[in-house]
Amino acid sequence: ATQGAGEALRRWVRRVPDHPVPGVTFLDITPLLGHGPAFRQAVDALAAAVAGLEFDRILAIEARGFLLGAPLAVQLGKGFVPARKPGKLPLTVVRQAYELEYGQAAIEVHRDAIAPGDRVLIVDDVLATGGTSAAAAALVERLGGRVAGFAYLIEIAALDGRRRLGDRPVRVVLRA
Ligand code: PRP
Repeated sequence: ATQGAGEALRRWVRRVPDHPVPGVTFLDITPLLGHGPAFRQAVDALAAAVAGLEFDRILAIEARGFLLGAPLAVQLGKGFVPARKPGKLPLTVVRQAYELEYGQAAIEVHRDAIAPGDRVLIVDDVLATGGTSAAAAALVERLGGRVAGFAYLIEIAALDGRRRLGDRPVRVVLRA
């Protein structure tokens, strides 16, 4: 069922060559977000993809991860933890730097957003090199949480980001 839903969603994702830098193909999900039934189907497909995983909270990554992680959290009745770009969260944070497909970056979460033993599902729109998600997983574990798994709308399989995610469950709606 998840596979069929993923195929139906493929037409709502645009490939944009050489954005934001030459050689990188940007996957633009704004058509999917802009179409009510497609957006709903994407969230439903993510919910189906993570069925069977046990977790307390969803952590998603600014900015595009929020667009899917937040509605998924609402649908599943889970809490939501925003992992933000540096300087946005007002209180004590933990920060993790990482390499992006196109540059350097860092993300932060509030120190009190995750308690020891919390089981956290990491959600993002796209799994590319896996650097962002590996950084998110490191943040969860630095706070004593456990990574219950990872979920993506799209996996760019050729970049093999999975190799950076260890042996935790990885659930994907669509492969690009
Ligand atoms: C994109 C995407 C993922 C990440 C995937 O975010 O939303 O978070 O890159 O790449 P990786 O697997 O190679 O780490 P981006 O940094 O472009 O930021 P945005 O969500 O704010 O647009």
